[in-house]
Amino acid sequence: MSLFIDLSSIRKNIKEIKKVAKKDVMAVIKDNAYGLGSKKIIHLLKDENINWIVYNTYKEYLIDKVLINELKMNVLILESPSTLSLNDYYERLHYSINSVNDLTDELLKVNHQIFIHLQVDTGMNRIGIRTIDELKRIIIKLITNENIKIEGIYTHYASNVDEINYYVLQEKAFTTFVKIYPFHTVHSQATSSILKESISNTLRVGLGLYGYGNKALKQYPALSLYTKIVNSFKVKKGDVVGYNQAFTAPSAGYIYVIPLGYNDIVGIDHVLVNDKRLQIVGMRCMNHSFLFSADKIDKIKSLKVLSKSDIIEKEHYNWYHILTSLKNMPKNYIERTYYDIPSTIKKRISKNKEYRFRRRSD
Ligand SMILES: Cc1ncc(COP(=O)(O)O)c(C=O)c1O
Repeated sequence: MSLFIDLSSIRKNIKEIKKVAKKDVMAVIKDNAYGLGSKKIIHLLKDENINWIVYNTYKEYLIDKVLINELKMNVLILESPSTLSLNDYYERLHYSINSVNDLTDELLKVNHQIFIHLQVDTGMNRIGIRTIDELKRIIIKLITNENIKIEGIYTHYASNVDEINYYVLQEKAFTTFVKIYPFHTVHSQATSSILKESISNTLRVGLGLYGYGNKALKQYPALSLYTKIVNSFKVKKGDVVGYNQAFTAPSAGYIYVIPLGYNDIVGIDHVLVNDKRLQIVGMRCMNHSFLFSADKIDKIKSLKVLSKSDIIEKEHYNWYHILTSLKNMPKNYIERTYYDIPSTIKKRISKNKEYRFRRRSD
C-alpha cells in the first residue's frame, strides 16, 4: 500500500483559490489536517503565504503550538473558549464566541489581550449565535473589557457547490449580522462556496486545499493510493464471495482480493486495474476488499485506488470521509512533475516500454 500526498498539487490549489477568489485564505486544518498530517501542511501553508490556521478545538492547537508560535501564524479556534484556553497567552490566538452562554466571568474579566470572532448561525443550524438581538447583547458585554478585541464574524454554509437558493438566504442573513459592528475579518466561504458571491473578505477553506470538493474550480487532487492483489481465483456464475455471501458472481470470472478494508479506507467503490475500472463487490472486510472481473487480467501493471487521472469518475465520492479515513495510513509526501505516478515507481517502470505516462497538461 503506498499513499502519496503531492505537495506541489496542494501549492497549486492554494494559488488557484487565491487567484479566483482574490481574498485572504484561512486554512482549516482541523482533525490533523483532515488526517493528512497538520505539521507537514502547516509548513507548506506558511511557504504559500497563508498566515491563518483554523482548528476545531484548542486541544488540536496545543499539538501544533510550538510550530505555530514559531512561525507566528494566526490561529482561530472554532469551539467556545474554556478555562484552559483562556489562560493560555499567544498574541495571535483568536477565540470563537458561539452563543451568549460563552460569556463567562472568566472571559469577560480576562486580563490579557484576546481576539474574538463571533460565529453566527445563518441556516446550517449547528452552532452559532442565532439572532441579531443575541449578537448585540454579546457585543455590548464584550466591549466592556478593553482587553477583548472583537476582530471578526463568520458563518458556515450548508449548501453544496450546485445549490444556490438556500445559499442566498444564508448570505442575506449573514449580511445583516455583518452590518452590526465594524468587523475587520469577515469569513464564510468554504470549499463549496469559493466561487459564490459573498460579503466576506476572507475564505475559510479545508478540503479544497487538497484538490477536492469543488468541481467548478480548477483543482489538483493531491492524493494517490496504490495497492496490490493479495489473492485471485476463478469463480463460476452463482458463486458467492465474502461475509453474508453478499456478492454472487453474475457470470464466470475472477475474484481479485486487495489488502484494503474499512479499517484502511472508506468511501471508495472501485479501483483502476491497468487503468480499467473494476468495481469493489460484496461486503468489505476490516482488512480486505473484493474485485470482480469477467475477464482474466494477465499482468497487473498498476492498481490505483486513488489517482489524479480519474477524478471525474470519482466525483460522487465523499472526500471528507475518504481523507479522514486515511489518518492511520503511512504517508509519503512528495513534490513531483509527472502526472499520477510517483517518481520511485516512475523510475522502475520507465524501462518498461509498455508503460506510458502522461505529463501534466499545465
Ligand atoms: C466552520 C467550518 N469552516 C470551514 C470548514 C472547511 O470546510 P471545507 O473543508 O469544506 O472547505 C469547516 C469544515 O468542516 C467548518 O466546519
